[in-house]
This record gives sequence, structure tokens and C-alpha cells, in this order.
Amino acid sequence: MKGLFVTFEGIDGSGKSTQISMLSEELTREGIPFVLIREPGATSIGEKIRTILLDKENSKMHARTELLLYEAARAQIVEERIRPDLEAGKVVICDRFYDSTVAYQGYARGLSLDAIGYLNDWSTGGLAPDITFLFDLPAEEACRRRNLREGAEDRLEAEGLAFMQKVRDGYLDLSRREKRIRVLSAMDAPDAIYRQVRLAVREVLGR
Ligand SMILES: Nc1ncnc2c1ncn2[C@@H]1O[C@H](COP(=O)(O)OP(=O)(O)O)[C@@H](O)[C@H]1O
Ligand SMILES: [Mg+2]
Repeated sequence: MKGLFVTFEGIDGSGKSTQISMLSEELTREGIPFVLIREPGATSIGEKIRTILLDKENSKMHARTELLLYEAARAQIVEERIRPDLEAGKVVICDRFYDSTVAYQGYARGLSLDAIGYLNDWSTGGLAPDITFLFDLPAEEACRRRNLREGAEDRLEAEGLAFMQKVRDGYLDLSRREKRIRVLSAMDAPDAIYRQVRLAVREVLGR
């Protein structure tokens, strides 16, 4: 049996965690086996890499170092978690995956999109999501929502509005090239967005 690989993308504050928790509740109710994975992280090696990436003390981190750390975490997560869970027939839900690298390190930081495309494919051994949800909203609104949320911002969230706008535009550009990416307006109410998520997941699950 082959599972289903679903990824959630969008700038910080776009509603990924909100939608993931709604989908998890429903899968739990229906008894459909699934796992939730947070990228980078999800493995003990990945969590250590995540700490380095989000640490505001690491202000000297070069953009290429950042890229390679994300790819290193990803390689580990794919082999240790995602591939085995898919082979076991589970739904694997990933909070961010390699499209984040294209949007943040490619479009926003300006690293080579060709290099990133190659590294994304290489670090995953060619594994691609079956379906990707992209929650789209203006950077200002995402910022406003983030400020309502508790907790200090991390190194990437502290980048500011212009950076987030580039990330947003990058995601949208990418979505025009990748058929697996479904763009949903994050300006809608959570329930309305979730109805679309559920419908699309049911469609690909065939139930
Ligand atoms: N569709 C929505 N409309 C308005 N506010 C939302 C919506 N979805 C989520 N939020 C709120 O916006 C904030 C950020 O949402 P969150 O799910 O944490 O985003 P992300 O995981 O993408 O950073 C939270 O306070 C959340 O309750
Ligand atoms: Mg979140």
C-alpha cells in the first residue's frame, strides 16, 4: 500500500498550523492513519538543525549555509520518517517542505533557483508531495496575524515585510509551474478554507 504525501505551504501566519490541526482532527475521527511532520525537525538530527536555523544569535549565517542546513534536515526526514511512513500506507502531513526552500532561499534570498531545484530533488531522492496547499495572503495581513499569536518571532520571521512579499510572490510563481500546488486564499474564514482542503484530500485519497 502506498500512502499519501500532503504538504502545507505559505508565509508565516498564513494559517498552516490552523488547517493542519483541522485536517488531523478529521483523519483521527475517521481512523485514517497519518503522521504530522514539521520541517525542518521531525528527527533528532533535524531538530538540532532547526535550532541552529531559527537561532537569532546566528546572524552571521550565510545564505548558502542556510540552504544546505535545510537540505540536510530534509534528507534525514525523508529517509527516517517520510518514506517509511508512506510505505506503511500512512497519510504524511508536512508543515512546510521543499517549496519553502524555493520561496525563501530562492526568490527571497536570491539564491540560484536552478541550484535549489537540483538540491531539492537530490536531498529527497526524488520524492515529491502528492498534493500541496499554498495559503496565499498579503504579507501585511500575515504580519498582523503573527502579532496576535503568542511567542517571540524567530530569525526568519524577523526579516520584515519586504522579505515576506518576495516569499509570497515566489510561492505564487512556483504554483504556476507545479500542478500539484493548490492555491487557496488565506483571507477566507478558516472553515471555508478547510472545506477546500478536505475536498482535495478526499479526492486524492479516493474516499
Ligand atoms: N483563515 C483565517 N482567518 C483569520 N485568522 C486566521 C485564519 N487562519 C488562521 N488564523 C489565525 O492567524 C494566526 C496564524 O495562523 P497559524 O495557523 O499559526 O499560521 P502558520 O502556521 O501558517 O504560521 C493564528 O492566530 C490563527 O488563529
Ligand atoms: Mg505554524
